[in-house]
Amino acid sequence: MNDKPNGIVEVLIDRETIGQRIVELAREISTAYRERAPLMVGVLKGCVLFMSDLVRELDIPVEMDFISLMSYADMRGPSGAARITKDLDCVIEGRDVILVEGIIDTGMTAGYLLRNLEARRPRSLRVCAFLDKEVRRIVRIPIAFRGFKAPDRFLVGYGLDFRQLYRNLPYVGVLSDEITGLNRR
Ligand code: IMP
Ligand code: MG
Repeated sequence: MNDKPNGIVEVLIDRETIGQRIVELAREISTAYRERAPLMVGVLKGCVLFMSDLVRELDIPVEMDFISLMSYADMRGPSGAARITKDLDCVIEGRDVILVEGIIDTGMTAGYLLRNLEARRPRSLRVCAFLDKEVRRIVRIPIAFRGFKAPDRFLVGYGLDFRQLYRNLPYVGVLSDEITGLNRR
């Protein structure tokens, strides 16, 4: 067992539980997209561990692309405005697209992305989220494939960061309030 690093007060979802759930999710996705070769669009950087484990369990052909944005919500702004800092490399018109997110909180980021991607006229567009903090939702986001429901606590690990740290933890942990302080995200 790994020792918990400084600041982690609790392991919320351990490595084994994550692995089991990913096998199930991959089965759902493989069934839903049989013979469709979907394009998985990962939202950097929170998606990276989740997406790389998930695609390895799929038994259908997939393509991968990535998008990155700077969210003004990160600064606790009220608007949910965001700016794309790295756009997709490929054209998604006519494609079956799966947007892969590490965590959906208020839903503002995913809402912005869905509007942006929908405007490019994909054949279909669905969301796959590793964690769903549904109690915090402001913008309604249909999540077709969900890893786990998450409580309203600040979570790190398995791709999720606090100030760019902790992403490499192989589990999801709860970060202490002492570290997050008042300026949580
Ligand atoms: P939303 O736009 O409020 O849904 O926020 C989504 C973004 O906020 C995520 O992509 C994360 O970057 C960040 N976020 C929200 N909750 C957490 C958390 O518990 N830990 C780490 N990042 C979080
Ligand atoms: Mg972050």
